[in-house]
Amino acid sequence: MRLELFLLVTVAIYAAAKPLSKAAGTRNKLLLISFDGFRWDYDHDVDTPNLDQLLVDGVKAKYITPPMLTMTAPSHFTTITGRWVEDHEVVHNMMFNATTNLKVPYKKTLTKSKWWDNGVLPLWITAQNQGLKTGSFYFPGGGVTYGGQAVNKAIVEMSGHPDDNETEWRHNIDRVMSWFSDENFNLVTLYYGEPDNVGHAKGPDHPDRKVIIKQIDRTIGYLREAIVRHHLTDKLNVIITSDHGMTTVKKRPQVDEIILNKYLNLLKLASFEILDYGGFGILTPRPGKEQEVFNALSNAPNLTVYKKNEIPESFHLAKSERLPPIVIVADLGFNLNSRFIVYVNKGDHGYHNREMDMKTIFWAFGPDFKKNFLSEPFDSIHIYPLMCKLLQIEPAPHNGSLSVTENLNNCVLSAGGPPGARLSALLLMLVLLSVLAQL
Ligand SMILES: *[C@@H]1O[C@H](CO)[C@@H](O)[C@H](O)[C@H]1NC(C)=O
Ligand SMILES: *[C@@H]1O[C@H](CO)[C@@H](O)[C@H](O)[C@H]1NC(C)=O
Ligand SMILES: *[C@@H]1O[C@H](CO)[C@@H](O)[C@H](O)[C@H]1NC(C)=O
Ligand SMILES: *[C@@H]1O[C@H](CO)[C@@H](O)[C@H](O)[C@H]1NC(C)=O
Ligand SMILES: [Zn+2]
Repeated sequence: MRLELFLLVTVAIYAAAKPLSKAAGTRNKLLLISFDGFRWDYDHDVDTPNLDQLLVDGVKAKYITPPMLTMTAPSHFTTITGRWVEDHEVVHNMMFNATTNLKVPYKKTLTKSKWWDNGVLPLWITAQNQGLKTGSFYFPGGGVTYGGQAVNKAIVEMSGHPDDNETEWRHNIDRVMSWFSDENFNLVTLYYGEPDNVGHAKGPDHPDRKVIIKQIDRTIGYLREAIVRHHLTDKLNVIITSDHGMTTVKKRPQVDEIILNKYLNLLKLASFEILDYGGFGILTPRPGKEQEVFNALSNAPNLTVYKKNEIPESFHLAKSERLPPIVIVADLGFNLNSRFIVYVNKGDHGYHNREMDMKTIFWAFGPDFKKNFLSEPFDSIHIYPLMCKLLQIEPAPHNGSLSVTENLNNCVLSAGGPPGARLSALLLMLVLLSVLAQL
């Protein structure tokens, strides 16, 4: 009788101590989703049952900090490479050449390898080189080649593509799910152009921003159903993140908008510039005019001007070869206009990444993630080593740190799972044995 009880208890303890995650060697799949311009607090004033459920079933960060240069292409490329912007050299949404005055708008850069491929390998290529199959659906940087190598399957977003078509959003999820379940992909990155689009056009405080957050929430619900439908629940990890936040643009009559030509003669003093692009500006002075440009801009209000070699180290921009000699960061909410006010945006980004309005989101769920875990904030650069760990691949050189993000993850310390649990089961058995022996 006692022996039976003992065996029962032993079995029960052992079962309880069995690891929930699979043993090392079983590689789960990974879906990385980005919703462009999803400010960290956009779900705080909208009813979002599906996003809320992600925290119950997985992990959420209070917020995350994008790299300095809070713009779509630079920030996404930091997420997918784990490298600072000065290293990967995608230093603007626009491709440019200060010598030839070439300027290529963002959507047109999406097929230009020359802009993206600067010797830093993104996760797709590193994973493929280790035998994995990867895909990119509209994700920035996914549509070009790196050292001549393309992503296994890449769909590139075309200019003029509507950002907010919910039916298409669902079709795109269905297609990605079939890449995983029918074609055995290991990693797919999926990109949505909202809520960035609405944030720019209407401003983050407009009711339409709440409407699009509800649409995103329904899409997350659809994603959860699709994962079940494709029998991927135990095999697929999902990370949902974004590239930057959004702030309301300050306009007349509340403020005097910045017109830089009032402070320096741009035609005379600059040979190249990208201004009129929100809160972040770049400029190449004519030969010998650098100090004059710097002094003039130092007198302009509501902005900070940097010589490239004096950019604070925390920006991780100064080493860039592409960045022109002068960089301007406007104060939060101020736009940099060159000669006239041509900018119609009601919301924008590109401001200092310490501003709360530039912070963005992180959720994750799936077999390798903890449940009901609210993480402290971290920098988006640390997502890269986490993704490598989840995919069980050797990372390329990067600037992230796994120690920041590995506490989100459940898994795979060694074959057989948490050694501590097994050990305590064993100790309990010994204690029980000695108790029984004394009876
Ligand atoms: C810019 O264009 C010039 C002239 O064609 C070329 O020599 C230079 O390499 C280009 N710079 C970059 C960074 O591509
Ligand atoms: C939305 O996407 C669906 C599916 O791709 C398409 O059939 C429909 O025409 C699109 N609607 C608009 C307004 O573009
Ligand atoms: C913008 O600059 C003006 C002039 O220096 C200053 O009076 C004003 O307080 C600044 N506005 C903000 C919001 O910092
Ligand atoms: C970022 O990582 C690269 C590659 O390991 C390295 O060369 C670079 O010095 C790192 N940057 C910083 C700021 O540590
Ligand atoms: Zn944007």
